[in-house]
Amino acid sequence: MRILILNGPNLNWLGKREPEIYGNQGLDDMINGLRQQFPEVEIDAFQSNVEGELINCLQQAENDDSIHGIVLNAGGYTHTSIAIADTLKAMDTPVILVHLSNVYAREPERHTDLLLANAKGCILGLGKDSYSIAIQYFIRG
Ligand code: DQA
Repeated sequence: MRILILNGPNLNWLGKREPEIYGNQGLDDMINGLRQQFPEVEIDAFQSNVEGELINCLQQAENDDSIHGIVLNAGGYTHTSIAIADTLKAMDTPVILVHLSNVYAREPERHTDLLLANAKGCILGLGKDSYSIAIQYFIRG
C-alpha cells in the first residue's frame, strides 16, 4: 500500500504559523509520526507553496499505478484554485481532502471549497488525526 500525502502552501510552516490553530508540531515531525503510526504503508510526502507544482505532483501520482490514494491538504488553494479542481476532476486515483482546522468555524472566505466536488471526501478539524483517518480509510480499502 503506497499513499501520497500532498501539502500545499504554508504547511511547511507548521509549528511556526498560528500555533493556536495549527499546533506546535512541524510538518516533517507530523509526516514521520504518520509513518510510525502506519508502518505497513509506504508514505510519500511532498509539499509546495506553488500551485503548478502541486498540479504536477497530482498528475505524476495519477500516472503512477503503485499509488493507491492521495491525502491532500491544499491549504489556501482549497478556497481559490479552479486549476487544482480541474486536475482532481480528471483523476481516477482517489483523493481525500484534509484540513487540520475546522475551516467552517473560521472566516467566511474559508467556507468555500472548490475542490470537494471532485474529491472522494474530506476530513477536517481534527489536527493530525485528519490525516490519520484518511490513511485508515485507504488501508480498509
Ligand atoms: C488549512 C485551512 C486553510 O484555510 C488554510 O489556508 C491552510 C490550512 C488547514 O489545514 O486547516 O493553509 O488547509
